[in-house]
Amino acid sequence: MEKMLKDRVCLITGAGRGIGKATALLFAKEGAKLVLSDLDEEPLTQAANEAKQLGADVVYITGDVTADGFAEAFVKKAVDNFGPDIHVIVNNAGYTWDGVVHKMTDEQWEAMLKVHCTAPFRIVRAAAPYIRENAKKEKAAGQVVMRKIINVSSIAGTDGNAGQANYSTAKAGVLGFTKTLAKEWGPLNVNVNAVAFGWIETRLTQEKTDETVIEKNGKKIPIGVPKEFLNIFRHMIPLGRPGSPDEAARVILFLASPLSDYVSGQVIKVTGGW
Ligand SMILES: NC(=O)c1ccc[n+]([C@@H]2O[C@H](COP(=O)([O-])OP(=O)(O)OC[C@H]3O[C@@H](n4cnc5c(N)ncnc54)[C@H](O)[C@@H]3O)[C@@H](O)[C@H]2O)c1
Repeated sequence: MEKMLKDRVCLITGAGRGIGKATALLFAKEGAKLVLSDLDEEPLTQAANEAKQLGADVVYITGDVTADGFAEAFVKKAVDNFGPDIHVIVNNAGYTWDGVVHKMTDEQWEAMLKVHCTAPFRIVRAAAPYIRENAKKEKAAGQVVMRKIINVSSIAGTDGNAGQANYSTAKAGVLGFTKTLAKEWGPLNVNVNAVAFGWIETRLTQEKTDETVIEKNGKKIPIGVPKEFLNIFRHMIPLGRPGSPDEAARVILFLASPLSDYVSGQVIKVTGGW
C-alpha cells in the first residue's frame, strides 16, 4: 500500500516529546517530509534523528512558538528546504500552568492563550500565502490537492476542568479557531480539524511532585497531575487506562491522511471513552 503521507511537507510543533514526537515518528513511517520544532533543543534533535532513521527527510528549528517572528521562521524553514508548498500543519506545542481562578495571575492566564491560541493562529497566517496560492492554482487547473491543519485541544477545552480556567479557555479557543478556519479555507480544499485528548501518558500528565517543573523564560512552571486526580481519572475512563502517545498520534495521522479528506471543522475526542 502506498504510504499515506508520501512527499507531503508536514510541520509539527512540540515535536521533541510526547504526542508531538509520536506524531513525527508515525508521519516519518508514512513517507512525510518533516519540519519539526520544539522549545528544547536536545529532545528535538533526538526526535529528528529517530525520524531520519525511519527514512524521513527532516529539518528542525528550536524555538518558543510564542516568540515574535517564530511562525515566520518556522514556515521559512519549510519553504527553504522543501519548496513553496505546505501540506500539513500540526499545532501541538503546549503545556499547562494550573491554578484556581481566585489565585491565578494575569501572566498565568495570558501564557496559556499565547501558546495554545496565538501561536497556532500566527503559524497558520504565516503559511497562508503558500497554502492559498497553491490551492488557487490547483483549483484553476481543475486539480484536487487536499491540505490539512490539525489543532491539538483537550477535554478541558470541551468540558472544563477545575484548576485549569486558563488552559481550558485556551483549548476551547482552539476549537473556535478550528471551526472558523474550516469555513474560510474549505473552498481551498483544506481540512481543518481538532483533536481533544483526555489523559495521554506524557511528561505533562505525570504524577505531580516538587520536581515536575518545566523551565520557560527562566521561570519554573509546575506541571503534572496530583496522584489523587490520576486515580479518579482512571475510574472515569471506560477503557480503564490512559492512552499512549502513539495511540494519540494515530488519530492525528488519520486527520493528516487522505482517510479524512471529507472531514472538516470537527473535534474528535480521544479519551478512551471518558
Ligand atoms: N497528555 C495529555 O493528556 C494531553 C491531554 C490533552 C491535551 N494535550 C495537549 O497535547 C499537546 C502535547 O502535549 P504532551 O502531552 O505531548 O506534552 P509534552 O510535555 O510531553 O510535550 C509537549 C512538547 O511541547 C513543547 N513546548 C511546550 N511549550 C512550547 C513552546 N512555547 N514553544 C515550543 N515548544 C513548546 C515542549 O518542550 C514539549 O516537548 C499539548 O498541546 C497539550 O496541551 C495533552
